[in-house]
Amino acid sequence: TERSYIMIKPDGVQRGLVGEVIKRFEQRGYTLRGLKLMSVEKALAEKHYADLSAKPFFAGLVDYICSGPVVAMVWEGKGVVATGRSMIGATNPLASAPGTIRGDYAVDVGRNVIHGSDTVENAKKEIALWFGEELSEWTPCAKPWIYE
Ligand code: GTP
Ligand code: MG
Repeated sequence: TERSYIMIKPDGVQRGLVGEVIKRFEQRGYTLRGLKLMSVEKALAEKHYADLSAKPFFAGLVDYICSGPVVAMVWEGKGVVATGRSMIGATNPLASAPGTIRGDYAVDVGRNVIHGSDTVENAKKEIALWFGEELSEWTPCAKPWIYE
């Protein structure tokens, strides 16, 4: 099944949005496979956002991700990568629709609360980078009530 790497960034943790974010993914019907609160080393942040290393905001982005603990998660379920992105909203929160996480809780692109993998392929890479093999296999009892 499809999996996405979802991360509550340091501003989301500081602002007490951890429960709110988890609640939205849980209540949508997705399955939690991995979860940890962790401080991020500079090298890990740089690797995670390597595609953006040429951008002028890259150093600030890495500092932001390393500025406090993040909540790293793996969520699983049908279409979770694309649906996770639509639940999160546009990169710039001023353009994020109300009802999305960024559209409800953020204003500034450099403090946009949450990360979500953008493709299934990148999700696999990010899950390997942040979790390796440390994921939990379990079957939610609600599964037949969520999937036809
Ligand atoms: P992630 O889920 O965090 O990967 O965001 P995204 O996929 O919506 O956007 P992208 O991967 O292009 O950028 C990664 C992160 O860099 C964004 O979430 C922002 O925190 C930051 N970022 C992107 N563009 C800008 C920008 O123009 N200025 C600043 N300051 N930060 C930016
Ligand atoms: Mg991205």
